[in-house]
Amino acid sequence: MCGIVGYVGKQKAAPLILEGLKRLEYRGYDSAGLVLLENGRFTVAKKIGRVANLETVTAPLPLPGHHGMGHTRWATHGGVTDANAHPHVSSDGRIALIHNGVIENYSKLKAFLLGKGYTFVSETDTEVLCNLIAYHYAKEPAAAAGDSRFVNSVRKALGHTEGTYGIVVMATDAPGELVTARKGSPLILGLGDGESLVASDVAAIVSRTQNVVYLKDGQIAHLTATTFAITTQNSGTVDPVIDKVTWSIADAEKGAYAHFMEKEIFEQPAALENAMRGRFSEDGSTAQFGGLNLSAGEFRGIERFMFCACGTALHACMVTEHLIERFARIPVECDYASEFRYRNAPLFRNTLFFVMSQSGETIDTLAALREAKRKGYKVLAVNNVVGSSIAREADGGIYQHVGPEVGVASTKAFTSQLLIGAMLALYIGRLRDLSFGEGVQIVRALKGAPDLARRALQQADHIRGIAQRYAHHTDMLFLGRLALFPIALEGALKLKEISYIHAEGYPAAEMKHGPIALVSEQCPSVFFAPSGEMLNKVVSSMQEIKARKGPIIAIVTADVELPAGLADETIVIPECHEAVLPIVASIPVQLLSYYIAVARGCDVDKPRNLAKSVTVE
Ligand code: F6R
Repeated sequence: MCGIVGYVGKQKAAPLILEGLKRLEYRGYDSAGLVLLENGRFTVAKKIGRVANLETVTAPLPLPGHHGMGHTRWATHGGVTDANAHPHVSSDGRIALIHNGVIENYSKLKAFLLGKGYTFVSETDTEVLCNLIAYHYAKEPAAAAGDSRFVNSVRKALGHTEGTYGIVVMATDAPGELVTARKGSPLILGLGDGESLVASDVAAIVSRTQNVVYLKDGQIAHLTATTFAITTQNSGTVDPVIDKVTWSIADAEKGAYAHFMEKEIFEQPAALENAMRGRFSEDGSTAQFGGLNLSAGEFRGIERFMFCACGTALHACMVTEHLIERFARIPVECDYASEFRYRNAPLFRNTLFFVMSQSGETIDTLAALREAKRKGYKVLAVNNVVGSSIAREADGGIYQHVGPEVGVASTKAFTSQLLIGAMLALYIGRLRDLSFGEGVQIVRALKGAPDLARRALQQADHIRGIAQRYAHHTDMLFLGRLALFPIALEGALKLKEISYIHAEGYPAAEMKHGPIALVSEQCPSVFFAPSGEMLNKVVSSMQEIKARKGPIIAIVTADVELPAGLADETIVIPECHEAVLPIVASIPVQLLSYYIAVARGCDVDKPRNLAKSVTVE
């Protein structure tokens, strides 16, 4: 949730660190800070608020040095203050630290360090770890041949630490060196031309290099401008794998768009193309995936599926549940990853687990994955970030391939999860009872998804107009049925997270069991009313709302004609197959939420209190 960037090389470090921090701001942005090392002295600057505030306070400073690190913070321990912002410097002035994660035993460690004479200026667990490293550094003998006092002191301190961390450390005695370590919080080493970088997210370093090493849990890396060595917490050596990042800096920039969210909404046709490329069989009747690591025979033996995820990704799982049950007739259960990890659910044999996570770093989803594996189940992952913790720990999976998603509100990652979910349902269905002809029809429909998304996006101006008329409301309902019920949940989530309007999603018929009490002229309802078996039922629910003077925004497929005067606003989406409908129906609610948030003057890409990837419980 916090962002990390470190640099050592030939360039002035400060501008590169500030640029990296700006690219990480979407991960968390209560405060930001940096530290530089030159001539055995740290220069530290920290400021609450956006990275722009840090830029303002650092603009008049000399900011010397070719070696430094920076951090964007999303507060966990201690309020949002300059003092609590990272980097932290040990009270003996020798060690500087930035940290993502939570040190759970920090109060015990703090009491120990206070007894040893270390002092504290912040309320953070990070400052405790910083002083603990300083304590071990002071105790550690000067480096023996082939060994490093610096690395050893970090290793020893981490040996006494409980919790999660991604850290970068600097020492006044070690100019030109960075030590970095991870457990449960992502870190990536960037190997440039005469320079080395470390970051919590590829976005912060991709402008400098595309050669990266994904650090694994329990590993410690020691970097200089031209060398790097990785060891384990137990002092074992590691043969690193150097990966190439496949996307470029342009993918992580907003270009001509006002916000990343807007860019990512409009990128959806291309994102859908990328997510399906090469994933249909030659006979055009089913889907195929390279990385499932499970044979068709093993898939046939599966009697149940369990999906775990959080937030938007859980909504994608719920749509997938619906489609797997439709196409493959196998029971599916979906659960909040945060609940599954603790509720000790009785599980059936022959159950296959799936987790979905755009970032691949959501701690609750990762914990659910580990819990399922601990109980002996195979877990596959649908995930967008190559090399993420979830991708690495899963037994196999499917990458979304939609490029970086920077806007905090997930859009293109969500619709690509819907697409992959539909392809999965098709794949499983074709291993069972789904006929060749039905398979061909679904493949055709899925291949048409990018074009249908493009047509849905053509409603943008019309939807902007509606948004302007409804932006003043403080409550809104989203109502849909079957596979569009999760899209109603998603519409409500999108609206509340970026516009701060209270919104709820319900199955349309459930509305009369409680939420109808909210209905008035002040509480509009967004209805999904596609053609098909449920249309008459949805129309009845609309009548009930209308009878109570509730304004109605209806999202209808092109072949639907609603009774005159029933809807106050109508958004038309193309008719489509049920496998694709959730994707196409998502687009108007994304646009509606986006334009409402813009009309209300909200900071769309950085909604208050939220972070892109939730790596704490
Ligand atoms: C909402 C949103 C969140 C995420 C959730 C899980 O727009 O993006 O609800 O979906 O935090 O994140 P991932 O998919 O990275 O596990």
